[in-house]
Amino acid sequence: MFGVKTRLINFCKKTYLSATSGKLASDMAIRSLMEYFVADTYGHRASIKKADMGYGWIHYGLARAYKPKRILCIGSRYGFIPAVLAQACKDNTKGIVDFVDPGYGKDDPGHWTGEGYWRTSKGKNSFKNFGLNSWINLYLTTSQEYATKFKREYEYIYLDGDHSYKGVSLDYKLFWPRLSKFGFMSFHDVGVKGRLTEGKYGVYRLWRKLEKRNSIVFPFLGSGLGIIQKATDENRHKNIL
Ligand SMILES: C[S@@+](CC[C@H](N)C(=O)[O-])C[C@H]1O[C@@H](n2cnc3c(N)ncnc32)[C@H](O)[C@@H]1O
Repeated sequence: MFGVKTRLINFCKKTYLSATSGKLASDMAIRSLMEYFVADTYGHRASIKKADMGYGWIHYGLARAYKPKRILCIGSRYGFIPAVLAQACKDNTKGIVDFVDPGYGKDDPGHWTGEGYWRTSKGKNSFKNFGLNSWINLYLTTSQEYATKFKREYEYIYLDGDHSYKGVSLDYKLFWPRLSKFGFMSFHDVGVKGRLTEGKYGVYRLWRKLEKRNSIVFPFLGSGLGIIQKATDENRHKNIL
């Protein structure tokens, strides 16, 4: 009968939305990912209790909207952002994340708060055990070694590895040429200054130079996330460093 089907669909939609408190994403699924990959809630302005991924939303949204074929992710303690990006590829049914981390732990110089997790069998199997295996590859190596071995092009690159000025500048130099036109490169900890036990933070120094370009910054709390986009005119990116 005319209108009955429409009314039934609207009723189902309303019931579903009220059951999920009107949210687009499921709190349970978000919490389970955040817990499993031990989300650094302070560093990403997130809250597991509130199922709030903080900066994770930005990575997820960017990847969902841009639908990259290939994403590069350098450095993560327990895999929160690499997993968010792999989940975005899974939800897009397109794309793959290359996640690079040598698995440094507290005894390694330049660990930058790494916990040695990626060298353990739990770490090595974590993406598989969470059902993300088809959307992410783990490379247990440094960004420099990875760049020498693989010459891939990326549409999205996230840098969260070596946080010294020298280290992050090297990553920028290595991978900027591998970013495709209109691609995005993001930097964690653009707001952190000074020396902590793990070393002297220098991402903010690089960011001061980069932010003059097509940039967006989320300066909240101590960490901060900076994003730049590769413009079509490559001359705008020359002689930055
Ligand atoms: C600051 S932690 C990342 C913490 C991060 N904010 C998070 O949410 O997990 C830095 C990570 O980078 C890794 N790392 C350090 N130097 C690296 C390098 N040269 N190439 C790739 N990863 C590196 C460390 O092993 C560590 O796991």
